[in-house]
Order: sequence, then structure tokens, then C-alpha cells
Amino acid sequence: MCGIIGYAGNRDIKKLLVESLKRLEYRGYDSVGIGIISDKLNVFKEVGDVSNFERKLPKLKGNIGIGHTRWATHGEVSKLNAHPQISCNNKIAVVHNGIVENFKELKEKLKGHKFESQTDTEVIAHLIEENYKGSLLEAVCLAIKKIKGSYSIVVISEDEPDKIVGARNESPLIIGLGDGENFLASDIPAFLKYTKRVVYLNDEEICLLKNDSIKIYDLNGNEKLKEETIINWDIKDAEKSGFPHYMLKEIHDQQDTIQRALIGRIFEIEREIKFEEIIESLLTNRYNNIHIIACGTSYYSGFVGKYLIENLTGIPVYVDLASEYRFYGIRDNSSLVIAISQSGETSDTLAALKEAKKSGCNTLVITNVIGSSATRIADGFILTQSGPEIGVAATKTFTSQIIVLFLLALKISFNLKNIGTQQLYEFILQLKELPRKARAALDQSATIREISKDFFKERSFLFIGRGINYPLALEGALKLKEISYIQAEGFAAGELKHGPFALLTKNFPVVVIVTKDISYDKILANIGEAKARGAKIIAIADQNDTDIEKYADIVIRYPSVSNMLACIPISIILQLLAYHIADLRNCSIDKPRNLAKSVTVE
Ligand code: AGP
Repeated sequence: MCGIIGYAGNRDIKKLLVESLKRLEYRGYDSVGIGIISDKLNVFKEVGDVSNFERKLPKLKGNIGIGHTRWATHGEVSKLNAHPQISCNNKIAVVHNGIVENFKELKEKLKGHKFESQTDTEVIAHLIEENYKGSLLEAVCLAIKKIKGSYSIVVISEDEPDKIVGARNESPLIIGLGDGENFLASDIPAFLKYTKRVVYLNDEEICLLKNDSIKIYDLNGNEKLKEETIINWDIKDAEKSGFPHYMLKEIHDQQDTIQRALIGRIFEIEREIKFEEIIESLLTNRYNNIHIIACGTSYYSGFVGKYLIENLTGIPVYVDLASEYRFYGIRDNSSLVIAISQSGETSDTLAALKEAKKSGCNTLVITNVIGSSATRIADGFILTQSGPEIGVAATKTFTSQIIVLFLLALKISFNLKNIGTQQLYEFILQLKELPRKARAALDQSATIREISKDFFKERSFLFIGRGINYPLALEGALKLKEISYIQAEGFAAGELKHGPFALLTKNFPVVVIVTKDISYDKILANIGEAKARGAKIIAIADQNDTDIEKYADIVIRYPSVSNMLACIPISIILQLLAYHIADLRNCSIDKPRNLAKSVTVE
């Protein structure tokens, strides 16, 4: 989705805006623009990427500037539709993330205004101009009272050359606090190089930034005092560290991020799992059922969580796509609702979470972003602590979400006395082994690349698994399709004969996830059935499985771990397989076509 940066300070403004926009590229975009106030408002826009845009920029000076990467929603991809959008008098510039639902209605009311773009954003610039009576802050405030929909906006005006005004409603906007400089952005990596001190704006809050001050108000003009938060992300986490792609770097981060998901939560000597007080209190309730709501990869981690939680606690777990749950989900106020979202900003997940809260359910969020909208809606939140994830394809946050779900399952199970201290201790020991197991899976990268050379030209893939491996098959297929553009589908292995068999032709690649659990014989039978129809079997199997060679054409080994935790090294192998195939196809791995990192529109 669109990326926003605003800056008030004395640095080289052109360099700063361009660098920040580059750090927002991962969100996905099709055009780019900046607005700088020097003696007057200067606006530059282009279709295409930030580097190309940068080459075309003249020398620029100024102490106030805004920038934007646009992901088209209203109006085609064009220079005119790129942001900033400006007012009729060319004095006010606006960058916007979100959708103004009533923009047509507002446009009709703005008599005498000439609109140049097809965007909903332009109407905001004109509305601010219409309401301007000498105070940009007041004009923005009056304008946004008339807007229906979701937005984060950042506004500058030639008439007030030392100020930036920002406002949000259902779309993230974060203030970065510097020394003699301040920032406003849709996402922390935009200014992480300069400051780790942040203030999150809430819905219907408006802020006034200068290089040496920030003020925050509600829409009635009352000033609000807000606490700052220190982000513990490192700028190195937001860089490639020598890897050719963020995605590969983030896959390799997992040895470390798995460790980080466990830190401060597992205690070997005390034989305990601990969460913060608020989470502990949520987990002491007896729930009739648990609902998990999420989108995309987070939905699949929730689906893995279903197997873990049901297995360890006996509590039924329903996993719903947030986009469905928000309209059709059963809201039972005796259930615990767990929303999972890497970004904490996914529009459908936030809407579903609000619905759950409205119905009186206890709500909990698993997210990677402290202060994100989801953390402020739910009763409690657990951070995955993975550091920023830049690649559009979720990798390290997926495995960390699963670990948090596993810890939750263990905690609930222990509270219910389903498992005792000794069992809990044994699980803790297994968890402590996981970073090493992740390393062993990562060591398979070169082998997986060699295997990928035989398959990267394929047009379709099937991924199958049983039990907890079924959601992994779904995630493996999603990973492959989103970065390599190969048609890939995941199925529960038992379903093959109910339809997908029709797809199988000679050498059709079928990735089979094999663990030595209760359905081992059945999955071997499924492999036999697929082979009998010509399929080429790539099995992902335990390093100690000596039988699998007899069934599969190719075997990728994962290090032995208990069945419930095998999902972690298996996920890493699936990610590597998708990565290497996509890389051999020369795909745009970190920024796949048509996709955005954070889906903040519906
Ligand atoms: C994952 O690779 C995808 N890019 C996508 O499915 C993502 O998981 C989904 O949009 C949900 O995002 P969230 O976790 O930030 O809510």
C-alpha cells in the first residue's frame, strides 16, 4: 500500500525524502512524488520506481517536505494521479494513504474547484483550501470532519512554511522524534535510521509538526499529551546485510528471530512459561472455544495454531479469514478471539477484531509491530519480536507467530492441568533446541537451489500434507505463487482424489510434507497414488526417515524435531524452495507484482 514520509528539519531534504521513500518501497507502489517548501511549494512526481524518480530530480533546498509512494486505488497509474495532490491555488500539498469513500459527493459540493486528477485524494487538498482561514491545522481539522473513510494524510502549505500537519483514521501514521527535527511516516523503517523514539497517532487525532516541536489534538482542537515509545528495532534489521534480497535475508534471520520469540517467555529453571500480566489474566479464563482471525500467511499460521492448541488443550479452535469473519463470523462472547497480523494494520483483520470486541469477546493480538492499530484495539497483545520484515512475502514473522501460538497452547494447557510441570519442562527444552534446528534447515539452501533448477520452468505445483502439515502446504503454495507467479495450490493430502487428481500429468511437481505421525502410512499411500498418475514427488521429510526414498523422486531433509515443532524447519524449507525457484525465474522477489506488504485498504 501507499507509503508516506514527512520531514521537518535541517538535513538535505531531497536526499532524506528519497532515502525514506526507498525504505518504504517494500509496501508496494506504482508511482512516486515529493513536495518541498522552499520559497514556494515545489512538487515532483513520476510513474515508476524511486531510483528513476531520483535521477530526474533537480537540486532542491528546504526544511519542510513530504513524500509518497502510491499504490493506485482510485484512478489509473499516472503522473497526474501520483501524490502529492495539490489545491487549486497550488499552495497546499497532500499525501494520503487510504480511501475517501464520499469523494464524489465532496467534489460536487466544491463548486468552482477544478480537479486535475482522478484521485479521491485531490478532494482533500481542495477541501483544505476551501477551509483555510490562516491556520493550516484548523483547515485540515475542518476538512477531515467532512471525510468518510480511512485515511492517513500529511499536509504542507506554502503559507505556513515551517509546519506539517498530519491526521489519521484507520490507517497508520507515526511520529518520529528527533533532535531539532521531526518525522511523520506510515511506517517506522522510513525514519528508523534517524530515530527510534516514536509517538503513535490514534484514529481521529491530528498533529502539528515543526522541526523543534510536536503537538497532538483531537478533532475538537483539544491538545492531547501522549507518551513516546522506544522502538528496539535496529536499522541493520531493515537492510539486506549482503543478501541479494530482503526475503533471503529474512529467511536466514530465523535462527535469531525464533530465539527472540522465546526470550522472556520460557524459563527453564523455573519450568514456566510467562506472558505479561494482562495476557496471563486473559488466559486464566475458561473458554468454550477459541476463534483465530487473520489474512494470508497470518491466517495459515493461525491454522497451524489450531492443531497445536486443540492438541494441547482440547479446546475447539475455529480459524476464520478476517475478511469473512467480520461479516459472517459467529460471535460467541464465551470465546477468546485471537487476531494475528504481522503488521497489525491489515484492514480486514482490524475490522474483524472490532466486531469481536463489540460482541464482548476477550481479544488478543499477535503482531510484530508495537503500537500498531491492532495492539490498540485488542484487550492484550503479544509481540513476535522479529524486527522489521521488509520482503512482501512473510517469512520470519510466520515462524514467530507459530511459536507464540505454541507458547499460548502450552500455557492454556498447563492452566487447565492438561499437562504438568514435567511435560511443560520437556516442551521448553524442545523449544530451546529450535534455533539450532532452524540453522540446520537453512543449511539446506544450496541443495534446495540445485533441486529448484529442475523445476523453475514449471507452470503449476501442488503442495500436500496432512494434519498440521496441511496449513503448511497451503502456506508453501502461497509463498511460491506470490513470488514466482507459478500457479500453486495446497491441499489436504486426502483430498487429492476428490478433484485435484485431474490436474496430474507426467512429471507434474507435487510437494509432499511428510512427518512420522499417525497418518504417515496414509501420506505414503497418497504419494503412491500421485506417482501412479505420473506426478513427480518432492518430499520434505525427517532426516531419519529411511523409507521415504523408496516413494519420492526427490527428498529434502529437515532436522528431526518433535512432530508438533517440525512445522518450523519445514516452513523454512518451503520458504527456501519458493525463494530459489523465484530467483531462478528472475522475479521481483521483494516486491511481487500487484502485492503490497501491508494491506490497509479493503
Ligand atoms: C504473505 O506472504 C502475504 N504477503 C500476505 O498474505 C500477508 O500475510 C497478509 O496480507 C496479512 O498481513 P498481516 O499479517 O500484516 O495482517
